[in-house]
Amino acid sequence: MIRFELNGRLVETEVAPTTTLLWWLRGQGLSGTKEGCAEGDCGACTVVVREPGGTLRAVNSCLQLVPALHGLQVWTVEGLQDAEGLHPAQDAMVDRLGSQCGYCTPGFVMSLAEACHRPEMSPADKDDQICGNLCRCTGYRPIRDALDEVAGTVPTDALTEAEDTGIARDLVCEVDGRVFVQPTTMGGLWDALDAHPEHRIVAGTTDVGLEITKRRSSWPAVISVEALPLSGCAASDDGFAIGATTRLTDLEAWARAELPVLAQMLRYFASRQIKHRATIGGNLCNASPIGDLAPVLMALDASLVLASRTEERLVGIDDFFLAYRKTALRPGEVLAGVRIPRPGPGTRLAAYKVSKRRELDISAVCAGLSVTVEGGVVTAARLAYGGMAATTQRAQPVEDELVGQTWDEGAVEAALAKMAFTPLSDHRGTAWYRDTVAKNLLRKFVAEHP
Ligand SMILES: Cc1cc2nc3c(=O)[nH]c(=O)nc-3n(C[C@H](O)[C@H](O)[C@H](O)COP(=O)(O)OP(=O)(O)OC[C@H]3O[C@@H](n4cnc5c(N)ncnc54)[C@H](O)[C@@H]3O)c2cc1C
Ligand code: FES
Ligand code: FES
Repeated sequence: MIRFELNGRLVETEVAPTTTLLWWLRGQGLSGTKEGCAEGDCGACTVVVREPGGTLRAVNSCLQLVPALHGLQVWTVEGLQDAEGLHPAQDAMVDRLGSQCGYCTPGFVMSLAEACHRPEMSPADKDDQICGNLCRCTGYRPIRDALDEVAGTVPTDALTEAEDTGIARDLVCEVDGRVFVQPTTMGGLWDALDAHPEHRIVAGTTDVGLEITKRRSSWPAVISVEALPLSGCAASDDGFAIGATTRLTDLEAWARAELPVLAQMLRYFASRQIKHRATIGGNLCNASPIGDLAPVLMALDASLVLASRTEERLVGIDDFFLAYRKTALRPGEVLAGVRIPRPGPGTRLAAYKVSKRRELDISAVCAGLSVTVEGGVVTAARLAYGGMAATTQRAQPVEDELVGQTWDEGAVEAALAKMAFTPLSDHRGTAWYRDTVAKNLLRKFVAEHP
């Protein structure tokens, strides 16, 4: 039985493994939560989830599976108001005239409700807070004003007064011969993988969710890794360890101090709602050639911890992507974590993403660039690009040309002659455009990091 709290009331239900929260809510008559795109792009379906311990996350209910809520708490726009009246986020939207047709409004209200509890938000944080919500008619100024009014005000509301449900997060729920399994231990995971050989592993379902909403895919078994003890980031003298199920908002907040180059890329990665659910493991395992984290992690010379019931092996990220959307994961294996060596003192690092729109867009080209310079001379280079081939790839001939040269614009210009990608032309950019952008990013890198 799936058990979670909705707007302060306990829900007990059994639904098919691939039932999204948005479909389920609207089926219950809770039609305040809207469907716009069903693919994470518009934010009309935004709800707030509270995790044990009190972390609040505005998420897209169109990509949230109901069984994965087991043990959690959810608020929709219907649950914010209390006996004293509208929630401050709702009041601010009314006072600032932040709504016209109103279709986007519940989604904005839920993003603003989360912002109420997010302290010390910079202007960039505020952009990030609502870049995942689209409005066709109001214009964003009044909505932004409403956000300015409530951000970080920490009102006493249903979200702060809630207490943990006390419901353990492990779950096995079978409906019509299809099962959702959410283990909380690695032993439980290996048992589930053995018991259900035909399965789909899921983490945040920001990627797999599209297969459900757009292609109506379903599987005999869906096995979630999100409640496993694989989340968190740690720094040591040697480097960094990041758990596979670490959410990208958590990773971004941690990386701002510990590994700024990763935060630089995550700032322009998707929206806050997506990053609240998406995991670093899901990003690497979907093996998209335009995935934004692989180039940075490749520049950082990361290794991946691949775990199975019988062994744990460390695979360099250069050897992880075998072909288009194909990885080195073997049957029975999952990605458990990422290890990153600490960059040396002479190492310059940068992450760049080029897309048609600055926020919430897919890369035409992205790059993770690293050079180590000692005494003015390049001693090592790792220049990794997404969007230039079927997998994330290093520009090795350019790296080879740069090593031993003085780190300056002349050396870069000479080395660029060796760039030998043959990218695709598609609606995001022609081959010529991608080739030109890839070269210009290296020129930008040397100009910004002399
Ligand atoms: C609106 C929108 C915007 C997006 N923007 C970006 C963007 O800017 N940049 C970008 O790179 N991506 C983007 N994405 C893609 C996606 O959000 C990310 O790749 C995300 O990190 C996937 O993580 P997840 O936990 O949701 O993965 P899931 O969807 O749960 O899983 C993805 C794949 O990884 C596998 N998997 C997950 N975890 C593990 C594990 N631990 N071990 C083995 N296999 C595993 C699953 O089986 C599945 O095949 C976007 C997606 C949407 C919907
Ligand atoms: S319906 Fe558009 S983001 Fe969910
Ligand atoms: S008020 Fe109409 S879409 Fe925002």
